Amino acid sequence: MTQRTPIIAGNWKMHNTITEAAALVTALTKAGNKNHAEIIVAPSYTSLHIVTRLTKDSEIQVAAQDVHWEDKGAFTSAVSPIQAKDAGATLTLIGHSERRSVFGDTDEILNKKVAAAMRHGLKVIFCVGETLQEREAGKTMQVIEGQLKNGLANFTEEQLNGIIIAYEPVWAIGTGKTATPEQAQEVHAAIRAYLAKTYSDKFAQATRILYGGSVKDTNVDEIMAKPDVDGALVGGQSLIAEKFARIINFN
Ligand code: PGA
Repeated sequence: MTQRTPIIAGNWKMHNTITEAAALVTALTKAGNKNHAEIIVAPSYTSLHIVTRLTKDSEIQVAAQDVHWEDKGAFTSAVSPIQAKDAGATLTLIGHSERRSVFGDTDEILNKKVAAAMRHGLKVIFCVGETLQEREAGKTMQVIEGQLKNGLANFTEEQLNGIIIAYEPVWAIGTGKTATPEQAQEVHAAIRAYLAKTYSDKFAQATRILYGGSVKDTNVDEIMAKPDVDGALVGGQSLIAEKFARIINFN
């Protein structure tokens, strides 16, 4: 089996002023990294530049929370992949559930955003996940496979090489309700099986699949212990330096 480097990513969402972001990331540069994980933070656009500057000599990588699908143009308020890259991002989230549900990003839009990010060499963390209603109707994998199929449509395995998938059950995001390690493992294994079936076993074995949804310092160890969980995408607790440091240094 391929050895996959773990990833611990923090999504700061619409939090932190520039001053707060600078203080937080400075604390994180001193957090240690006993698992040799890839550490990623996704600040607001306004803090991308300062956070990149402050992490220059550290292992921390900086992600945008989203990018537009065009390189430039009349798209008031949007940020293009060129701009995100210029501000220092080397990765971007695409398809976070808040983008899907609050801002109406459809699979087709997300597909264009993935293309735009890849065009400019931004690594993609592609987020998928089911609502509680979908889970209770037994449609979890049907929903996730649809999100993967449509969101990643028209790309070859070669193009998708290095993509990171984040499984974030909508009912667990910001609710304090975490999927059990068993629930996470079940979906992660199913996603890996889908990747093997759709691309190749080699691709499936190499692709990192992160879990997100109320990951905390108190539950990260048991979640990370599951064989198909390769990392965590953390919201709330990534805003608190000591908590996120503990998550980075999971046991
Ligand atoms: P949460 O958010 O950790 O606050 O549940 C996770 C996410 O939205 O990525």
